[in-house]
Amino acid sequence: MSLQLPPLSLYIHIPWCIQKCPYCDFNSHAVKQGIPEQEYIAHLLADLDQDLQLVGQRPVTSIFIGGGTPSVFSAAGICRILEGVKQRLNCTEDMEVTMEANPGTVEAERFAGYVSAGVTRFSIGVQSFQTAQLKALGRIHDCDEAIRAAKLASSLPLASFNLDLMHGLPGQDISGALADLHQAIALSPPHLSWYQLTIEPNTAFASRPPVLPADDTLWDIQQQGLALLQQHGYQQYEISAYAKPGHQCRHNLNYWRYGDYLGIGCGAHGKITLATRNAILRTVKIKHPKGYMDISRGYLDSKEQVPAEDRPFEFFMNRFRLLEPCPHSEFSAYTGLPVSGIAPAINAAVAQQLLLDSGQHWQITDKGARYLNDLLTLFID
Ligand SMILES: C[S@@+](CC[C@H](N)C(=O)[O-])C[C@H]1O[C@@H](n2cnc3c(N)ncnc32)[C@H](O)[C@@H]1O
Ligand code: SF4
Repeated sequence: MSLQLPPLSLYIHIPWCIQKCPYCDFNSHAVKQGIPEQEYIAHLLADLDQDLQLVGQRPVTSIFIGGGTPSVFSAAGICRILEGVKQRLNCTEDMEVTMEANPGTVEAERFAGYVSAGVTRFSIGVQSFQTAQLKALGRIHDCDEAIRAAKLASSLPLASFNLDLMHGLPGQDISGALADLHQAIALSPPHLSWYQLTIEPNTAFASRPPVLPADDTLWDIQQQGLALLQQHGYQQYEISAYAKPGHQCRHNLNYWRYGDYLGIGCGAHGKITLATRNAILRTVKIKHPKGYMDISRGYLDSKEQVPAEDRPFEFFMNRFRLLEPCPHSEFSAYTGLPVSGIAPAINAAVAQQLLLDSGQHWQITDKGARYLNDLLTLFID
C-alpha cells in the first residue's frame, strides 16, 4: 500500500523563559544574560532552509510558536520569523498561527504587535487564578495579570485564543479546582486546555515532591470539571483539550491525526512523509541553545525512518487521544499499511470494550479513554 501525504504544519521552538517552573520538563532555560534574539532567528531560518527539500511546495496549514516562552521575543522578532517562513514555505491563506504567551510577559502594545506580525491565536499559560497556587508553581504572574492577559486577548482581532490551566495542584481540593474553571469560563476563551499536573523526572518537583490530592479527589475534579465545561458549551475533543464549536486547535489536531510537521529550533521534533520513497522520517534538532547555534555542528541531532512495524502504535498513540471517530482509510493512507494487518489487535480491543468498530470507523469508548495505555499496548509489535 502506498503512503499518502497528510496535511503539513510547522513547529517553531523558542527555548527561553524568565525563570524555570518547578514542574516543567520542557526544553526551556531561564534567561541569564539576555536573549540572543537576532542570532537565534537567523539560525531558525537557516534551520528551515535545510529542511525545505523535505517538503518542497506542500501547503502549510498551521504554525505553532512554542516554548519556552515565545513572548520573551519582541514583536519585531516574531514578525521577522513569520516573514522568513512565508518567503520559504507555501503557506495557505487561512493558516492558523498560534503563539504561546506567559501572562507575566503580556503588554498591550507588544501583543498588538504580534497580531500585526501574523499571529492569529494566542495560547496563554494561566495555570491557576489563585495567587498562592501560582507562587507554589513558581509562576512569575499573579491572578490579576492572568485576568488582564485573557481580557487583552479577547480585545484583539484574533481568530481564537486558548487558556492553559492545570488541576490536581499541591493541596488543591475540588472547590479550588472548580473555582479556577469558573474564573476561566467567565473570561470566555474559545479554547481551554485543562491539564492534570504530572510530576516529571528531572524537575524540582521530582526532587522535592509536593503533596498532591488523593486519587479519589483527582477523579472527582475530573468528572465535575468536565460537567462544568460541557454546561458552558466547551466540547472535550482530546484528553485535555476543550473548545467551543469551530475553535479546536488545528495545529494540535494535525499532530493527533498523525499529520506531518517540520520542527525548527532547539530540540524541535519533525515528522515528514516521503511518499515516493514509501518512508516516514523523524527529525530531532540539537537540544541546547549553545550547541544549536554552533554553526560547525549543523542543526540536526538525529534523523530516522519509522519502521513499518512501529507505525500502528505510533498512529494510534496519537489518534486515540482524540475522541472523534477514526476512519479506517486514514490509518492505511498515513501509515501505508493495510487494516488487515492490525485485525488481531483491533478484535482484542473490541472484545475488551476499549473500542467500537463500525466497519468504516473506530471509536474509542469511555473505558478505552480511561485505560488508554492498555488499549495502546495491543498495538505494540
Ligand atoms: C510548553 S508549556 C508552555 C507555556 C508557557 N511557557 C507557560 O508556561 O506559560 C504548555 C503547557 O503545558 C502545561 N504543563 C507544563 N508542565 C506540566 C506538567 N508537569 N503537568 C501538567 N501540565 C503541564 C502547562 O499548562 C503549560 O502552560
Ligand atoms: S514558563 Fe512554561 S515553558 Fe517556561 S519553565 Fe514555566 S512551564 Fe516551562
